[in-house]
Amino acid sequence: MTYRLLRPLLFALDAETAHRLTLRAIAAAPRGAPPASDPRLARHLLGLEFPNPLGLAAGFDKNGEVADAALGLGFGFVEVGTVTPRPQIGNPRPRVFRLPRDHAVINRLGFNNDGFDAVERRLRRRHRGGIVGVNVGANRDSANRAADYTAGVTRFAAIADYLTVNISSPNTPGLRDLQERSALNDLLTRVEEARRAAARPTPILVKIAPDLDDAAVAAIVDATIAAGIDGIIVTNTTVARVGLNETRRAKEEGGLSGRPLFRRSTVILAKARKRAGNRLVLVGVGGVDSAETAWSKIAAGADLIQLYTGMVYAGPRLPARILAGLAERLDRERVASIADVVGSETDRWAAVQP
Ligand SMILES: Cc1cc2nc3c(=O)[nH]c(=O)nc-3n(C[C@H](O)[C@H](O)[C@H](O)COP(=O)(O)O)c2cc1C
Repeated sequence: MTYRLLRPLLFALDAETAHRLTLRAIAAAPRGAPPASDPRLARHLLGLEFPNPLGLAAGFDKNGEVADAALGLGFGFVEVGTVTPRPQIGNPRPRVFRLPRDHAVINRLGFNNDGFDAVERRLRRRHRGGIVGVNVGANRDSANRAADYTAGVTRFAAIADYLTVNISSPNTPGLRDLQERSALNDLLTRVEEARRAAARPTPILVKIAPDLDDAAVAAIVDATIAAGIDGIIVTNTTVARVGLNETRRAKEEGGLSGRPLFRRSTVILAKARKRAGNRLVLVGVGGVDSAETAWSKIAAGADLIQLYTGMVYAGPRLPARILAGLAERLDRERVASIADVVGSETDRWAAVQP
């Protein structure tokens, strides 16, 4: 059945229930080898060979249940998590809301996940290749949040292709304060020490919020470079509510993702790229739901891109469609490879009002 026919059925269910069913359907789908990507879409970054620049963003597969199946949909990489040291049930339900007229989602899940032990066990059972990153966080009631992150680095360094330090969820009170200058310097120094002590020098990215002013973005870029961290994922969901059609749903507390996040997250990305030059790997995420938005994100300065909410509205064929669209556009614009597109419009995007 095509997703167009299935979607009304899924949308009749609570968003979280629909997501559980989606995970089961993806996991149960027949597995062939992942589809081959157009070689012009490949990127060599972080010491890894990405077959294409499009990844599945964190939160879709919080517990590492469908990483191989998601790679089978065409994604060039999958980010599992956020995982916290101890399992957590998260906030009371309902806690995920669709805004169909905005092609958006609001969530206040609050890091519901199975915890390090269960997710590590699951990832160790994988037997296929493909790039899988692990996004780590802190327990809500943790007495020492920095220690939760360093424990994540230590625990997953050997089995993750890269690690993400997620300090930008709006749903764990106080978490985003870790983006502030002195807290961030301290955290990143400790994370870097944990990486050096780990079995393998796994690449590390920091994931930031879109709700930051120019000075904060510049400070985070500088701190990331100074600490020797490899890159930044730009961005998580926003607490802002601008220009939404679904005014009733818009009042739900939590982080907003999808189409209305595209512009804001892309402007922050361009500003981070301007500041970082080529010293960091930047992953652009927020509102990518077509080949056009994917291309714009890359042109604004993203080496790699990710999506989540686009899957809710467009379904599991979206990654293949985006990749085909990117390859066609390379033909049309007579550009040799996607790497040549990165940053071609950074200046224009950095000047846009977010
Ligand atoms: C339901 C839901 C759960 C999410 N959970 C996480 C999470 O656990 N960790 C994280 O770093 N980001 C999480 N995100 C944020 C996404 O990874 C992404 O940064 C954001 O949704 C913007 O991308 P999009 O517009 O393509 O969805 C979540 C997003 C949604 C919609």
